[in-house]
Amino acid sequence: MILSEIDHIAIAVNDLEAAISYYQAAFGATIHHREIVESDGVEEALIKVAESYIQLTSATNEDSPIAKFLEKRGEGLHHIGYRVDDCAAALQAMINAGARPIDQTPRPGSRGTTVAFIHPKGSFGTLIELVQE
Ligand code: CO
Repeated sequence: MILSEIDHIAIAVNDLEAAISYYQAAFGATIHHREIVESDGVEEALIKVAESYIQLTSATNEDSPIAKFLEKRGEGLHHIGYRVDDCAAALQAMINAGARPIDQTPRPGSRGTTVAFIHPKGSFGTLIELVQE
């Protein structure tokens, strides 16, 4: 088994501050990490749950993939990040299994991770992110 943990569940939101406030009020959640990834056009806030995270994600500009997702689909579940020991090996295994990679090779993600995205088409409708810490 290549997967070692659910790294994070990413939820696209219009208003990051409102979503953070809601999670704080509803769950007593604290923000473990916050980051703007300008190259991806996203701002994210991570809430730690055991060894996984809920990643509240908003767009930093109109051309962001998150902005396009919000426009098309509205707020909600955006992708699932699966934690792996070796992102390149996991990506290759997925390609061998018929997956449609968005990233042909692993690239830097937030929190200093190495990541690769897999297209929802060919993965039963779910955008998948492979995350190596
Ligand atoms: Co992610």
